[in-house]
Amino acid sequence: MNDADYRLLDSQLRALLGDETDALAATSNFVALLYNALADINWLGIYVLRGEELVLGPFQGKTACVRIKLGDGVCGTAAATLTTQRVDDVHAFPGHIVCDADSRSEIVIPLLVNRELVAVLDIDSPSLARFSETDQRGIEVICETFCGLQEARSGFI
Ligand code: SME
Repeated sequence: MNDADYRLLDSQLRALLGDETDALAATSNFVALLYNALADINWLGIYVLRGEELVLGPFQGKTACVRIKLGDGVCGTAAATLTTQRVDDVHAFPGHIVCDADSRSEIVIPLLVNRELVAVLDIDSPSLARFSETDQRGIEVICETFCGLQEARSGFI
């Protein structure tokens, strides 16, 4: 049973971040909240857009690769296409970048603040096909809430 209560998570996120003005602190807590709320995951974190590449930001899990070029791997594809990538089997994804050999499936959601790409959220699982369409919709809504809260502030990380 993987299903998280995304509505509850959304209200927890609003309560947790509502008054925080520091984007780095807010992003760190966003990552920690999700990591501890979702079952059967082994890595969750942010890659921040810096010029033409994604650079590792706040995360939970094992150490990870630091820089990913736009278009490379699952994260780079999500960033380049501005579309969520839900991958049931990472070994079947051309160019997948292996950070933790335990990862079997993943979902990557582009984060847009004021309609500009600022980062991607990457979530990895040791189970094949861990993320359902319901998970995708729930996580996308949480990301929209997070990005909406960031819009009230100047700048991202
Ligand atoms: N798997 C990702 C790389 C990042 S790690 O999983 C943390 C990818 O192919 O984009």
